Amino acid sequence: MESERRNTVILRDITGSDIEDYVRWFSRDMDWKDWDAPWEEIETTEEEERRSWTEYYEAVRALPDDAVRRKFEIEWNGRHVGWVSRYFDLDYMDNPEQIPAVGIDIAEPEARGHGVGTEALRQFIGYLNARGFRRVYTQTWSGNGRMLRTAEKLGFVEVCRKKDLRLVRGERFDAVTLLLER
Ligand SMILES: CC(C)(COP(=O)(O)OP(=O)(O)OC[C@H]1O[C@@H](n2cnc3c(N)ncnc32)[C@H](O)[C@@H]1OP(=O)(O)O)[C@@H](O)C(=O)NCCC(=O)NCCS
Repeated sequence: MESERRNTVILRDITGSDIEDYVRWFSRDMDWKDWDAPWEEIETTEEEERRSWTEYYEAVRALPDDAVRRKFEIEWNGRHVGWVSRYFDLDYMDNPEQIPAVGIDIAEPEARGHGVGTEALRQFIGYLNARGFRRVYTQTWSGNGRMLRTAEKLGFVEVCRKKDLRLVRGERFDAVTLLLER
């Protein structure tokens, strides 16, 4: 019971106080970006980030309660530590059936490795399943062992591998797509 209480993961909409976390995660504390598509650069200023995350917050606030969310914040033991999201525009693959792909980032390094990512994705996939999405993709790269293991624990199976597609810090890695079917 005690350990359950200490490892509570919830998904929720963004709140006003999350905005400054995003500003920090997209400007100063960007360690997560070493793992999430590190071949893509983020080049913005703190001011631009503050403006765009404030706009995003206002947009989410205006959503009807029953609108299917594209993104949720991950809260771990009451602390905002990252996010889950979904998208249809896959990298290097067509998606004629419009199967959603899920993405995740635990931006706070000390929140990683406690099962939070697996539990957050499990909840998000359950949310999507309940809204008619029976199948879900996730895309990563062969150097991200933690993400591959997380996907494996959830039951994802590899459906596409593009050998050596990703160049990360001077080394070639495979691009990997996995599918979870309920
Ligand atoms: C990837 C991520 C979402 C996983 O969430 P998490 O809470 O850290 O993961 P969990 O604790 O639920 O599970 C991680 C699993 O990977 C294992 N693992 C850790 N490092 C590993 C490695 N280098 N290679 C293989 N497996 C590894 C852990 O042992 C654990 O498996 P186990 O439960 O069988 O022991 C999170 O670490 C993260 O956000 N990382 C930075 C950003 C990122 O990589 N995003 C995904 C981009 S595609």
